[in-house]
Amino acid sequence: MRVFVCVLLVLVSLKAEDFITKMEYAKMLYSNPRGIGCISCHGAKGEGSIIAKYKHKGKQKELIAPAINELSKDKFFKALQESDSVMPKYFLTNSEIEALYFYVTSEVNR
Ligand code: HEC
Repeated sequence: MRVFVCVLLVLVSLKAEDFITKMEYAKMLYSNPRGIGCISCHGAKGEGSIIAKYKHKGKQKELIAPAINELSKDKFFKALQESDSVMPKYFLTNSEIEALYFYVTSEVNR
């Protein structure tokens, strides 16, 4: 009986991996990594957006989250690993960054 339960558990967990596709996983991560979605600053498809408009010394200014859907993989990784700016630091793993890159540069996302 115990062996049966173990085998069953293994089968269930193997099956669970098929629950979401690579694309669904990547989209989920992009929408809500560590609680603050890239989506809220960089837009639904990584096209970039204006985060805020404000006045500084009488001049109209804009805080812009740049488009990130056409960056090289190198630039994308560097930005996420060495971020020290407005953008939150996420401490993402390489495979998480890989999934995010896959998502924003994917044709399905265009
Ligand atoms: C609070 C808003 C905000 C959030 C949330 C955010 N970013 Fe950013 N991001 C920025 C801003 C602003 C910049 C512009 C450069 C800078 O100030 O760091 C930027 C820059 C970048 C760059 C570099 C762009 C370039 O041209 O070099 C990448 C790549 C990037 N973000 C990816 C992401 C990803 C992926 C996420 C989610 C894990 C994310 N960002 C979440 C605001 C944000």
